[in-house]
Amino acid sequence: MGSSAKLKFPPGPPGGLRTWMTGPLKNGDPLGYFTGIARKYGDIAGLRILNFKIFLINHPDYIEDVLVNHPRKFIKGRILKANKRVFGDGLLTSEGDFWLRQRRLAQPAFHRARIAGYGATMVEYTERLLDEWRHGEERDLHKEMMRLTLQIVGKTLFDADVERDAHNVGKSLELLLELGADFRRTIFIPQWLPTPTNLRLELAIRRIEKVLYRIIADKRASGRDAGDLLSMLLAAQDEDGSRMTDKQLRDEAITLFLAGHETTANTLSWTWWLLAQDAAVEAKLHAELESVLGGRTPSLEDLPKLVYTSHVITESLRLYPAAWGTARTAIEDHEIAGYKVPRGSGVSFAQWTVHRDERWYDAPEEFRPERWEGDLMKRLPRFAYFPFGGGPRQCIGSNFALMEAALILATIAQKFRFRLVEGHPVVPLASITLRPRYGVRAVLESRPVRSGDADSDRKPQFSGQLPR
Ligand code: HEM
Repeated sequence: MGSSAKLKFPPGPPGGLRTWMTGPLKNGDPLGYFTGIARKYGDIAGLRILNFKIFLINHPDYIEDVLVNHPRKFIKGRILKANKRVFGDGLLTSEGDFWLRQRRLAQPAFHRARIAGYGATMVEYTERLLDEWRHGEERDLHKEMMRLTLQIVGKTLFDADVERDAHNVGKSLELLLELGADFRRTIFIPQWLPTPTNLRLELAIRRIEKVLYRIIADKRASGRDAGDLLSMLLAAQDEDGSRMTDKQLRDEAITLFLAGHETTANTLSWTWWLLAQDAAVEAKLHAELESVLGGRTPSLEDLPKLVYTSHVITESLRLYPAAWGTARTAIEDHEIAGYKVPRGSGVSFAQWTVHRDERWYDAPEEFRPERWEGDLMKRLPRFAYFPFGGGPRQCIGSNFALMEAALILATIAQKFRFRLVEGHPVVPLASITLRPRYGVRAVLESRPVRSGDADSDRKPQFSGQLPR
């Protein structure tokens, strides 16, 4: 990009505080808002709120420029920052040298070899969940996925059985996500103000902290490295010999709890919902599971062969990216598309709009896992598909998440399929993450266990009259 910006400020939607508060954010439809802007103004649009300038960018190359070519010129946006009481200085929200040090300490816990050891736990917890499920029963799949991924994160990253705390922690995390996601509240109401909502938030944080500090104390006392992330962080030493304080450990732990379980749960919830509406895709998935696993419990070694399964997840993350949008604040002047982006202004972009752009995808609104069968991924500009972000701040847990999603999908889809409850609305709520606002209610239908070479899955509509 050239160094002297010729253009002043790009055309964009009406600004002003009032428009902003009563418009895009009011009805919880930022998705529609961003889509509308991309359609109307193209790859770059400008928005002014009071004296704050926001550049809304929608071209993969501009996004790459911000995340990969100039990451040092940008810090995380205000919404995440406003949640500091929750995240503290954890990986997601910290900056600069402090962030880099923490990232280096945490990185080994996410190396492929290390997370490979988590596969068995992921399957085991999924099977435990299935033991509770009964044919014909109605459940909220989103709740089920939230419970499952919370337990998996607790066990794999903290070696703690959060089963006994699951209810408490789960409820508190839910509240944090719900309140933290209220953009207007987060931006305009200071967290120290003792409003009823802030007090509820405070109570929820304290409940989680209590559990986390207990886990940290137990670990310090036992001195045992169980191979989990928390043990690694506890043992990690800086060059000067200093170790992480309990507060630092708490910040990392709560960040991983939040960043690591809800995103994957959302991805799975959307996947079940998409599958339940598409008998052909579902049948193809079942056929693959049958031929590769033949009723056997999946393991990590099976994943390279579960190609269609992974395309289903890739496609689900395209249409319903759990991290649907990203924001940054410029800390130095920059230039995008010939416009000057002055220090202090915001830059935003949305996976949601880029992933549904017909310049990159045929029939972008359709759920078609097959589109990933060829070399589409290679042909696309790097940031036409970026569910895990990119550059130095890209998701540390992407391999963990993909492995977890595939193992859970394979384990469950072998045994159950779902019939959506008629009349139950499944609609996206775009808060910090993208989740089904009212959950995904479905009736469980158990599937017959079949061996690989037996009767291939010709009955995707199997109504499951098997006795259990
Ligand atoms: C489908 C599941 C997931 C999705 C879609 C997702 C998405 C993302 C995205 C887009 C970012 C970058 C945010 C930004 O640039 O502002 C991110 C960062 C992060 N994610 Fe994930 N994530 C997922 C699962 C996980 C899991 C399982 C973990 C941990 C176990 C995790 C931990 C983190 C952390 C710690 C960061 C901050 C990294 C840093 O700044 O150094 N995520 N995630």
